[in-house]
Amino acid sequence: MTGVAKLKDRIADQRFRDEGAVVAEALAAVSLDATARARVTAAATELVETLRQMSDPGIMEQFLATYGLSTEEGVALMCLAEAYLRTPDAPTVDALIRDKIGSSNWRSHLGETDSFLVNASTWALMLTGRVLGDAGMDEQELTGFMAQAVRRLGEPVVRAAIEQAMKILGRQFVLGAGITDALKRAEGMEKKGYTYSYDMLGEAARTAADARRYFLSYSSAISTIAKQAVHDDVLANPGISVKFSALHPRYEYVQRKRVLEELVPRVSALAEHARAAGMCFTIDAEEADRLELSADVIEAVARNPDFVGWDGFGVVVQAYSKQAPAVLDWLYALAGELGRRFTVRLVKGAYWDQEIKNAQVLGLPNYPVFTRKASTDVSYLRCAEKLFDQADRIYPQFATHNAHTACAILEMAGEFDGFEFQRLHGMGEALHDLLRKKGGRRCRIYAPVGVHKDLLAYLVRRLLENGANSSFVHQLLNEAVPAASIVADPVALVADLAEPASPRIALPPDMFGARRRNSEGVNLNNPVMAGELDRAMQPFKRAQWSAAPTLGDGAARPVISPVDRQDVVGEVAEADESGVDAAMARAERAFAAWRDRPVAERAALVERAADLYEAHMAELIAIASREAGKTRLDGVLEVREAVDFCRYYAAEGRRVLGDGGRRGLGPFVCISPWNFPLAIFTGQVTAALVAGNAVLAKPAEQTPLMAARAVALLHEAGVPEDVLMLLPGDGATVGAALTSDPRVRGVCFTGSNETALAIDRALARHAGPRAPLIAETGGINAMIVDSTALPEQAVRDIVASAFQSAGQRCSALRVLMVQEEIEDTLLEMLEGAAHEL
Ligand code: FAD
Ligand code: 2OP
Repeated sequence: MTGVAKLKDRIADQRFRDEGAVVAEALAAVSLDATARARVTAAATELVETLRQMSDPGIMEQFLATYGLSTEEGVALMCLAEAYLRTPDAPTVDALIRDKIGSSNWRSHLGETDSFLVNASTWALMLTGRVLGDAGMDEQELTGFMAQAVRRLGEPVVRAAIEQAMKILGRQFVLGAGITDALKRAEGMEKKGYTYSYDMLGEAARTAADARRYFLSYSSAISTIAKQAVHDDVLANPGISVKFSALHPRYEYVQRKRVLEELVPRVSALAEHARAAGMCFTIDAEEADRLELSADVIEAVARNPDFVGWDGFGVVVQAYSKQAPAVLDWLYALAGELGRRFTVRLVKGAYWDQEIKNAQVLGLPNYPVFTRKASTDVSYLRCAEKLFDQADRIYPQFATHNAHTACAILEMAGEFDGFEFQRLHGMGEALHDLLRKKGGRRCRIYAPVGVHKDLLAYLVRRLLENGANSSFVHQLLNEAVPAASIVADPVALVADLAEPASPRIALPPDMFGARRRNSEGVNLNNPVMAGELDRAMQPFKRAQWSAAPTLGDGAARPVISPVDRQDVVGEVAEADESGVDAAMARAERAFAAWRDRPVAERAALVERAADLYEAHMAELIAIASREAGKTRLDGVLEVREAVDFCRYYAAEGRRVLGDGGRRGLGPFVCISPWNFPLAIFTGQVTAALVAGNAVLAKPAEQTPLMAARAVALLHEAGVPEDVLMLLPGDGATVGAALTSDPRVRGVCFTGSNETALAIDRALARHAGPRAPLIAETGGINAMIVDSTALPEQAVRDIVASAFQSAGQRCSALRVLMVQEEIEDTLLEMLEGAAHEL
């Protein structure tokens, strides 16, 4: 393995490292000493004070100072902005405005800022809110002709006012609807000495048609921008920024082979086009799950021998990521091996909220990003120093709107000027003007270009990132925050912390607190985790399992995989009537002792079983895959759900039954379906066990092997064999015998309405009057997609529902109602997305 390959492999290893260890490394790596850091803080304080005294420090900064995410109105505005621009019909717009604007207290923000535009928007919002929330409207307070006009003209005017406010917001972030407009609008800043990197809006393509459209949009933009690329020095010319997620509908690690075959030629063609035009070509950084795959694509594209001598190929690196230093080391080594220079744009990162949520949902061992803002700042300084050290092969581009970070860069740079600053269009304008006056360094503006409908994802990121309390831009104009605290030295802040990771953001395994541990997930988009799972599953590729009734012994039959009819997964012997009878008698005898054990003991055994499930995860996923035809992802979700059930029922048992008031009923029959062979099976069985019942479990005819493995693990955990018995067999014989036995004290069933009704009748006829039937049947979930929906997201959810919860499960989507205005778009996208599967 070459040095470059080793360094690339190291990237994946860093993803879930302990935060304290990474922070300690970052602190040790930053070489700016206390005196230098004091100079940085002093310079940054001066900048903040100057910005605060300016009459126009930037509309976005003023807007955010007025409407941060900590105010109800800020959140309402963000929701509105997120959906408003793509809402095609007036009645839905009115309903949306009524919902978001009607109840908020806009008046309290009036006059908080000197900005005319922000105040005008506040007026519009306030009056709009008053008109819409007409109950409680105070006539006296409706001042001036604006109010009267709004009242007289009603909703169309309200709509126009909001549209104006949203356009202001949209225009704030987008340079132009098309590249020609954008180039024209860029002339003003170019005269002041700024250069540009244009970003054609659009990302997360779901269909091949979208990916093609975005490819053409980049390609034609390069042709147009090329006319402005007149300098010999590529770095003095405008450039383009691209997002891989726009260029491929399945840009995910599990599709690596296909992505390399299809995406690499597309990116290569665009990069070649940019090179020929003498432009910079920069690959934006997206979610952490894309990182290793993007490194593979970047390397494959960068190895093009025609690119030798072209210094404009660039990559974005996110300092909030624990992986950032490893990415820089790999890029530097690659540039060295290829005898090339790359540009590297260092950002802090725009997907923080998503990364935190994603790690929690997937039950990952740790977060890929830091959990404290100051740690991200320190990491940025560490990476910046690294970039300066790598400047023989790397042209550093420091993208930030934070005065402290920018001053630290100037301090590190000293006299060196082989780097540039970058800012986003619509942000940090005044700060970067001051920086240019101060240091005379180059600055490039990242400028989104496109129509409003493609702006949303970008806009939401900006609002989330800048509306957060911790954001520099949000604090800048908030006079309540002293300048000294905004520019506080992050190195000192972090060094003084007792706990490097924020105690307010529990690690994903601990997110349910002391009550129960979250189930362990596997991130199949991380090569290390995916590789470990592959290796662990290897021994089970050909293994065979067997299932037999606890009592009685019927004839054995082979269990054949539904995905490969040649694959014999094992064999099952089904129960017969005498086995059912004997098992029932044994359950009756065993029940009392089990019921009388303290609930804490029963719960502890079930929790031990959860740990065993996790320890045997690879085997269970292999069974899910071979016996039930599940994908690896579905297999992971299957095991996790089962583990969560164990821990959930254990916790609930302690909570609800701890006082001994309620007690188990007796022999309980559990009948589960094939489509969640471990999860539903385990959920039913463990709930009944924790509640103090003896269980007779009949799995689906198709999936007895998984059930047998689950029962074995529950026994291994300490659940007595006579308290949990397995009775494989079909519904009409074994199921019917079990549910019509007079000794049954309750049934738990998941499946069709028809069977549930039959069981209900059987219980009524044979069992005691107090034997409950707990049935989960024929659930119908509806999704209503109105015209404000982001179609890409609706399509993702529909596809996930169809393919990840197939069958009779209640969580599967059964009813889809689509508002007419969005129907064509959605259907077209669904068809395209289905085609990509
Ligand atoms: P600051 O307010 O100093 O820092 C904000 C950062 O702190 C954010 O990254 C935020 O996520 C992080 N943060 C907030 N709370 C916490 C916490 N509790 N723990 C840890 N971290 C926290 N971003 C991308 O992801 N990919 C790109 O390709 C990209 N391209 C960009 C190009 C340019 C020219 C610019 C200017 C920005 C780009 N960004 C990109 C966005 C960039 O990530 C944000 O604008 C940037 O994070 C803001 O940093 P700051 O120094 O201006 O602000
Ligand atoms: C984003 O799209 C700027 O690339 C960054 O959020």
